[in-house]
Amino acid sequence: MLLNSKGLALILAASIAIIIGASLLLIPELPDFVFWLVPIICFGTSYILINVVLEFLFFKELRNIYEMFEKIRNNDLTTLKPERSYGHSSLNQIQQEIYSYAHVKQSEIDELKQMAKFRRQFLADVSHELKTPIFAAQGFVHTLLDGAIDDKSIRMKFLRKAAKNLDGLDALVQDLLTVSHMEAGDITMQFEPTNICEVVEEIFDQLEDRAAKKSISLKLNNEGENKILVLADNQRIHQVFVNLISNAIKYSDEKGEVTVTLTPNNEKLDISVRDNGIGIPPEHLNRIFERFYRVDKSRSKAQGGTGLGLSIVKHIVEAHSSEIKVVSNVGQGSSFSFELELYQAR
Ligand SMILES: Nc1ncnc2c1ncn2[C@@H]1O[C@H](COP(=O)(O)OP(=O)(O)OP(=O)(O)O)[C@@H](O)[C@H]1O
Ligand SMILES: [Mg+2]
Repeated sequence: MLLNSKGLALILAASIAIIIGASLLLIPELPDFVFWLVPIICFGTSYILINVVLEFLFFKELRNIYEMFEKIRNNDLTTLKPERSYGHSSLNQIQQEIYSYAHVKQSEIDELKQMAKFRRQFLADVSHELKTPIFAAQGFVHTLLDGAIDDKSIRMKFLRKAAKNLDGLDALVQDLLTVSHMEAGDITMQFEPTNICEVVEEIFDQLEDRAAKKSISLKLNNEGENKILVLADNQRIHQVFVNLISNAIKYSDEKGEVTVTLTPNNEKLDISVRDNGIGIPPEHLNRIFERFYRVDKSRSKAQGGTGLGLSIVKHIVEAHSSEIKVVSNVGQGSSFSFELELYQAR
């Protein structure tokens, strides 16, 4: 191929040698060897110089750009690197532009792949979670239809079991709807002055029976205050406390203690829900807020858990411009904490 750096250098060097040779003819009385030696030297040096300049300033850059396009065409963006170059500045700039364009595209592709993976995983998890209570309820109803309905003692037992599974299914669907609305950003918070002491007391009343069954005591540590107003979405914050306190009861052994501590701290209220239960192994701590994640699947499932509670808590707390934190030691207990803005009456 003539139009590469060598071909161009050959043409230009030959032209220079011919022009110089022709010019020498105009100078009188030169020795004969000058007429061939000078053009040869000119040809050699021009060829080397032009070749080096073209190769390093243009052709190498063009080849790099071409290689980049090849990689983009083959979707091989991960191996694309910004080349350090000494070439022509506009070629260099084109190269950098291509690199940043490819970089943006690669991030978009990665994000789409990640989302597709999440969707597949979510669908698989949802189907799996729905299947269990549907299967169980279906089994009890069919057994009744196949004749068990005539046995009075079995009839009530099976109907209760079917109803329990259907209640679980209802709770799961509600949680799923909440999670998907929150993730889609469809839920707007209704911030209003909320007495957090009242919210906690209400939930203690609601969960009292469950705690009593395991002789677990529920304590509110509010430094004697029974009215602490925060700016929060009453219903959603209710949901946060129900999830955290019921987890604390669920994952504690008999005679445990669950304490909710409220500590005003400047314009914020520090809130913690602490238990002295089974604790969470450190390797699971940063995953428990993922939907459907359970440390001990069999224990959680036996208690009717689906692993959605903490992901809902995380979304709600974040929608209150806060962050949920957890500290836990296996065998000693766990503490979940976050903060809310104190309501300042104007
Ligand atoms: N206080 C706690 N002590 C020990 N482990 C906990 C505690 N809270 C949560 N976990 C662990 O984190 C996992 C996720 O909790 P999460 O509340 O999201 O789900 P769940 O309680 O299993 O089900 P759900 O809340 O949907 O009924 C639980 O399965 C449990 O293993
Ligand atoms: Mg839970």
